[in-house]
Amino acid sequence: MAASESQTATETMKLEVFRFLPDEGELPNFQTYEVPYRDDWVVLDALNYIKDEIDGTLSYRWSCRMGVCGSCGMMVNGEPKLTCSAFLRDYYPNQIKVEPLNYFPVIRDLIINMDQFIDKLGEVKTWLIPAEEKSVDEGEYLQTPAQLAKYKQYTMCINCMLCYSACPVFGQHPDFLGPAAIALGQRYNLDSRDGGADERADVLFSNEGIWECTFVGECSEVCPKNVDPAGAIQMAKVTATNDWFKGLLMPKGKKKSGGDQ
Ligand code: SF4
Ligand code: FES
Repeated sequence: MAASESQTATETMKLEVFRFLPDEGELPNFQTYEVPYRDDWVVLDALNYIKDEIDGTLSYRWSCRMGVCGSCGMMVNGEPKLTCSAFLRDYYPNQIKVEPLNYFPVIRDLIINMDQFIDKLGEVKTWLIPAEEKSVDEGEYLQTPAQLAKYKQYTMCINCMLCYSACPVFGQHPDFLGPAAIALGQRYNLDSRDGGADERADVLFSNEGIWECTFVGECSEVCPKNVDPAGAIQMAKVTATNDWFKGLLMPKGKKKSGGDQ
């Protein structure tokens, strides 16, 4: 049920929405729409109302409406939010301003270009690189609950990119790998089944990687899944420093980078 049945729709709210229709030669601007106020509506419901009832040209991404797909991230009154989790009641009766996520190129209206973020995931190799290849006949890659607990928090990332829009370092240096890509690199480096830490090291520990982070910490504040990317970056800095010391003290070929396995 999209709206509370007990509540009449006599109350309304205003949404000031960023519009940009490059195909029609329009410059970016804001349009204000009046929508019904329902205390169980989220900002995404209001955008859907605008699209269905007022202006079908409004474009934005969403899919699950339950904080899982990560596609509905936008700036709501200047803060990066999942619009499917931002309730109108938290802003009522004030006007709400909705804009595309900060620091990303805008394709149209509230839709940003994600290519740079996707490329970064590829650079970090955010997938399992098996420490030892096994055939299907040899069975699963088993893991204990304690081994799972080391990286489980980072698996909660839904690639919503709110952390990037909260990060002033990314805002000034778009080449910075950024919070989620680094947290996901740690997710695999800390996985006992993974052997790819050395392959990720050059990218993660580069100037555009962990050392670019000045630990503002806003990424962890806005993360809707409590991934704590700021903590992941600091942990990776400790790992990199330890590896550097090991490299000094141990003969070549004996050092092992990445998280403790
Ligand atoms: S770390 Fe959090 S804020 Fe960043 S992309 Fe993942 S879920 Fe979103
Ligand atoms: S619509 Fe999927 S996270 Fe919001």
